[in-house]
Amino acid sequence: MVSYLPLGLLLLVATAYAKSPFIVGGQDTTIERYPSLVQVEYLNSWGTWNQACGASILTSYWILSAAHCFEGWTYRAANTRIRAGATFRHTGGSVHNVDFERNHPDYGRASRYDADISVIRLRTPITFTSSIQRCTIVNQGFVVPDNTAVIHAGWGTTRFQGQASHVLQHVTINVINRSLCAQRYGGNAITNNMICAGILNVGGRDACQGDSGGPLYAGNVVVGVVSFGNGCGDAYYPGVSTQVSSYTNWILSTAR
Ligand code: ARG
Repeated sequence: MVSYLPLGLLLLVATAYAKSPFIVGGQDTTIERYPSLVQVEYLNSWGTWNQACGASILTSYWILSAAHCFEGWTYRAANTRIRAGATFRHTGGSVHNVDFERNHPDYGRASRYDADISVIRLRTPITFTSSIQRCTIVNQGFVVPDNTAVIHAGWGTTRFQGQASHVLQHVTINVINRSLCAQRYGGNAITNNMICAGILNVGGRDACQGDSGGPLYAGNVVVGVVSFGNGCGDAYYPGVSTQVSSYTNWILSTAR
């Protein structure tokens, strides 16, 4: 019996890989298709820059991201920068240092990830090109209907606790009913300021670690900011994004 275990395990692992090759379950794409998406990089203690979040360009001086990407023990604005106009992780495009962040004042109050949204000011202005453009954000109060097709894009890991992707990935999923999502996560984890998305009861397609702060698009419009999930591409637990339409007015009045 014991000798059969490793083979069984190997097959299981092989299946898992085959199902989740990219972002989790995504495909290669280019920055020209998502010109408002940027990489967020952090200077670590051994002096190298590491991309660990995404963000969307609002104006030449302001970007939109997740509050959890701009806080914590090790976070310092001075050790944080963005890379715009680059398809590949850590290379190309144009780099801009962060001046300061404005995390939403309600972040983490109603629940751990409620109001996980931030606007960030850059030290130098972004120059717009065919691969560097402003994003469009959803109107205040707009509700994206259940089952709407939505897209994540980012350089995050291609499976839970896996490695980041060298090439920008994108994946199409569906909006999942918030009450159902709240039931699955339990407690008060899911608030009315969140959008859940995935492939219901199937999984295999999702954002993952390192995609945080990046966009969830409906068409060309940013409707969500990648926030959290239980694992990645899980069949039971959808991915969770901050619902931008809860904060549109706040974004417009704060990013200035
Ligand atoms: N918190 C993660 C990050 O910092 C994002 C997790 C998204 N997970 C998911 N299953 N959609 O990059």
